[in-house]
Amino acid sequence: MGFRDFNVSTRRVLIGIWVGGAVSVAGLVGVQVLGGDAVELGLPVFAFIAFTTLAELFPVTFEGRYEITVSTVFLVAAILVFRHEPELIGLIAAVAALGSNLIARKPWYKVATNISLAVTTVALAWVAFSLVGDHDLAHLAGGGAAMLIVYFLADTFPMTLLLTVLEERRFTVTYINNYRGVVVEMMAMEFFGLLFWIIWSVSPWLTALFALPVVILRQAYFQVERLRSESITALGAIADLIEDRDTYTHNHTESVSNYARRVAERLDMRADDVERVAVAGRVHDLGKIAISDAILLKPGKLTPEEMKKMQEHCSVGYEVLARFSSLTPIAELILAHHERYDGQGYPRGLRANELPKGAAIIAVADAYDAMTTDRPYREAMPADRALDIIRQGLGTQWHPVVGATFIQMILEDQARLQSEKIVEIRHDVAS
Ligand SMILES: [Fe+2]
Ligand SMILES: [Fe+2]
Repeated sequence: MGFRDFNVSTRRVLIGIWVGGAVSVAGLVGVQVLGGDAVELGLPVFAFIAFTTLAELFPVTFEGRYEITVSTVFLVAAILVFRHEPELIGLIAAVAALGSNLIARKPWYKVATNISLAVTTVALAWVAFSLVGDHDLAHLAGGGAAMLIVYFLADTFPMTLLLTVLEERRFTVTYINNYRGVVVEMMAMEFFGLLFWIIWSVSPWLTALFALPVVILRQAYFQVERLRSESITALGAIADLIEDRDTYTHNHTESVSNYARRVAERLDMRADDVERVAVAGRVHDLGKIAISDAILLKPGKLTPEEMKKMQEHCSVGYEVLARFSSLTPIAELILAHHERYDGQGYPRGLRANELPKGAAIIAVADAYDAMTTDRPYREAMPADRALDIIRQGLGTQWHPVVGATFIQMILEDQARLQSEKIVEIRHDVAS
């Protein structure tokens, strides 16, 4: 994926991040020029560059989307150690980000983004610290606290903004969703940084004692995340298996999951419920594993008997998932994903508010994606026609609020795509 493949708003945010990085570099260098003294590249600077680069090379990826690294420990310590030579802080952050990204062979725009984010974060945290000052212990404590808070915000805000425009999600929900689970860990790393600085002040050699705890810290994050993600990964693998049986529905579960997640966010559902709806969307047809090819891939209309068999996929999926205690709430959504608002659905004929909202969301997303993609028994219909069908079924087949929210979302998508096309055409004409 190249830079040109991103949508307009993503490119804008990326350019914003780069501008922020450039301004931070200019600011830090400016402080140095005004200060008048020459940059002193001593052994401590190289040591910090080495620590930070090493830490960056072993990130822990959370939910397959964003990474945290223990480099925070060293960058926070660097801000304090080099607080009177801020250009060195910027240098450490930039060189470590450049080195680790080049070693990991990241594409140029990721390198530029990561360097910019690193430099901006340390620059802002340093500004926060310096504004309070360090002339006595009280100020030092206050400055340290201000620095930790600003570091956290500067570290997390731009990444969330990027995710928001990349996946067209809501900022606050994405922010809470991503960092609620790791805020304690991130703060712990910042405190480790403070501790590192204190020990460094006593004697830099003593920081060698830090190697083991930092490695343990990193492994602890790694294990926790592995446990959490493995069950989800296993489910995704099963979902892919089901998709592979029927090439006509390729990418279906992924699309349903994405639509469902976004609708759940628009309905301001709680972050963990949003996550459940997204996972349920991915595995909603898990139970089709029990349906024979003769029925699943039949080009014509199903007989009443075949239909009955097909409908069993809800309870089969439920039974499989309910065996995992942590997945019971997801199993409930799977069981109810073919229920209707008017009670005419299956398997239990739930109506109105008896229906779990998450299941109502998956029902709409599932139907829309099925209608707008080719199926064994018919060709895809245009999006507007599918939206009309959903509109006509509001309050009967579909949950009225959920359905209306879905329609609104698709219309907004279409409008944005349209305006992006206009921007692209203008761009092409201009260049
Ligand atoms: Fe289904
Ligand atoms: Fe489906």
